Amino acid sequence: MNPAETLIDTIASQAGLREEISRPKVEQLLAPMDFGGRLAFVERLLRASPTDREWLEFIEPFLIHETYFYRHPSQLQYLGQNVLPALFEERKKSGRKVFRVWCAGCSSGEEVYTIGLMLRDALRSFAQADAAAWETSVIGTDLSPDMIQKASMGRYTVSSGLNSFRDIPAFGRQHFEAVLSQQTTTWTADEGLRKSTSFQQRNLLKDPAPATDIDLILCRNILIYFKEADVRAILTKLEGSLRPGGVLLLGPADTMRNADGFDMLSDGRALLWKKKGRLSP
Ligand SMILES: C[S@@+](CC[C@H](N)C(=O)[O-])C[C@H]1O[C@@H](n2cnc3c(N)ncnc32)[C@H](O)[C@@H]1O
Repeated sequence: MNPAETLIDTIASQAGLREEISRPKVEQLLAPMDFGGRLAFVERLLRASPTDREWLEFIEPFLIHETYFYRHPSQLQYLGQNVLPALFEERKKSGRKVFRVWCAGCSSGEEVYTIGLMLRDALRSFAQADAAAWETSVIGTDLSPDMIQKASMGRYTVSSGLNSFRDIPAFGRQHFEAVLSQQTTTWTADEGLRKSTSFQQRNLLKDPAPATDIDLILCRNILIYFKEADVRAILTKLEGSLRPGGVLLLGPADTMRNADGFDMLSDGRALLWKKKGRLSP
């Protein structure tokens, strides 16, 4: 057995990461060990199931958790102004005031809370006095138990350098005023936001979707790390969990490989994918 190649193959098959991403870190990890030590390390790891703590701790340094509130604001502005009102309208016509979102690969949760805030803002304009009658939920999933734990806490602190608050656009600023004007160093999700959000540790490649009949899925800045065959399999899974007419938002650098089941939505600010079909009343 070649320990480095075995590890790279295992990481690709279990977590989906491409060889170019994992190889430098695998080589760095194995460098201090002699051949016997490398073999023993890999054999022990192969005995662990990919859901075991030991395996998840091994994979953690290979994951890239970069994220922040209102990331890719022009996409989100298009979503909030044009797409969310249309999706609410479709739900209303179908007779159910429910709205489900899945953030796949949510990292430390900033994306989930951003969408939670955007749903609240959009519903206030769309439903006005009736906003409270809507039941919204945003589910965040990630492979990393550490990120899921951080996300569940819903507390973010200003630190030096790049941080969660680095690029908040004018349309989201109202929610972060205290932090941005330096009255406080910590932002905490309020009770309403916490009630409408939840987090689950899940492997996007191996585990089923956390729900069905979903209105909106965000899967941003994660597929770029996966092999093409895995990207296709994941996109099929995402499509299957969307309701007819539901919308998929990928990252600007992610490539859509399953366009047949979707119509493209765009106004130059963003490109979103609307699943074909209509909700029946
Ligand atoms: C770069 S972050 C993107 C976070 C957020 N979507 C955003 O755009 O700001 C990618 C996330 O995908 C997660 N990830 C990588 N492989 C995964 C897998 N197989 N299953 C679930 N999550 C995975 C990583 O742990 C990481 O937190």
